[in-house]
Amino acid sequence: MASLSSFIGCSCPSGVFRAPINGGKVRACLSVDVQGPSSTKLQTGKLGCSSEEVIESERKLFVGTYARAPVVFSSGKGCKLYDLEGREYLDMAAGIAVNALGHGDPDWLQAVTEQANTVTHVSNLFHSIPQVELAKRLVAKSFADRVFFTNSGTEANEAAIKFARKFQRFSHPDAKESPPFEFIAFSNCFHGRTMGALALTSKEHYRAPFEPVMPGVTFLPYGDIEAAKNLILKGKIAAVFVEPIQGEGGIFSATKEFLLSLRNACDEAGTLLVFDEIQCGLGRSGHLWAHEAYGVYPDIMTLAKPLAGGLPVGAVLVTERIAAAINYGDHGSTFAGSPLVCNAAVAVVDKISDPEFLLSVSRKGEYMKNLLKRKLGENPHVKEVRGQGLIIGIELDVSASPLVDACRNSGLLILTAGQGNVVRLVPPLIITEQELEHAANVLLDCIPVLG
Ligand SMILES: Cc1ncc(COP(=O)(O)O)c(C=O)c1O
Repeated sequence: MASLSSFIGCSCPSGVFRAPINGGKVRACLSVDVQGPSSTKLQTGKLGCSSEEVIESERKLFVGTYARAPVVFSSGKGCKLYDLEGREYLDMAAGIAVNALGHGDPDWLQAVTEQANTVTHVSNLFHSIPQVELAKRLVAKSFADRVFFTNSGTEANEAAIKFARKFQRFSHPDAKESPPFEFIAFSNCFHGRTMGALALTSKEHYRAPFEPVMPGVTFLPYGDIEAAKNLILKGKIAAVFVEPIQGEGGIFSATKEFLLSLRNACDEAGTLLVFDEIQCGLGRSGHLWAHEAYGVYPDIMTLAKPLAGGLPVGAVLVTERIAAAINYGDHGSTFAGSPLVCNAAVAVVDKISDPEFLLSVSRKGEYMKNLLKRKLGENPHVKEVRGQGLIIGIELDVSASPLVDACRNSGLLILTAGQGNVVRLVPPLIITEQELEHAANVLLDCIPVLG
């Protein structure tokens, strides 16, 4: 088998490059200790390969699905990431709202290493304790009675689609025509990339090359109470999928009236209400679940991104009546809910669900929004600063890409959202006010690139 070094074309003889996880000394592949990233003096030559070499090799090897920024990250600590050349970045992207505890959280690390030392994977043919421990917590801390684990967000939504279809079949045993099987989703929504979740994702650009996707999905304007009520009450809808706060779509929050009217119409029609909290859930909004701020509860909630602090996981939380419709063999996954991933997730859930932690997210979110309004509000390109907790959007009247690039070149990682005109800030939830202030200052310094 070819070694890593031959793949990425670097001169490292062993092919082993160990990145630091603590910002301390780096043990390079030539066994030469060099200064860690915090010194920003790391010599790429000593590591045997440069960022350019890695990127060039990747270009030849990978299926071209990603337009990646030209950075190779080699380590992280807290809210900081370090590239191969030792440059330091403040991470306000958190691996797209994943690294809620930042990089290398000690409790998370302990949970992972202890479990890896014990047992990593057993498959879902057998029982394991971390899976049960995680399920206990998710059930105790939510509206739900039962949990189904997946490996990602799109798989969680895929499972929710199947559960909704099965629930409707189960609830209409004598139906002469087919039971309700259609779905409603909303403008600017994002529910994933697999064929079912993709069918529920509003961006035409993502769906068009793969048509026909799952039929029977109607997209309605996010927030349009009348349109949703009218369609739900026609009785053909199996489930309504909605993000209480839209992430990819541009950081739009639902109103209480909208979610409540969906809840009432769904109850009247026997339709299921699914909240996709894959991006906005688990503390990001300052509430454990974003829907708690509205006092409106779903039948199904999907989770993923931050749940295992960077390891791949997803979860579908359901009420008992939905679980009752699902039988052995209706759905499954080889990897989902492994002991390793679930033990990591237990550490994450325990930390984030602490009321003090959640309060700190709310406070830091308000602090950052006020700071951004004060520092950037006068800029003619800034239309709005919005969001809840630490999911914050800065809507511009132009593309946000030049600003994202300029910030990255200045050591700040941020994301776009919406039609590319929204700056999305989804930092680790452990970020400090000082770090937020630094991020706001870099944004202020860089915003002139917008012209
Ligand atoms: C709200 C929402 N749902 C679903 C997904 C899909 O999750 P994944 O990328 O883990 O498949 C995402 C990912 O960005 C998301 O933000």
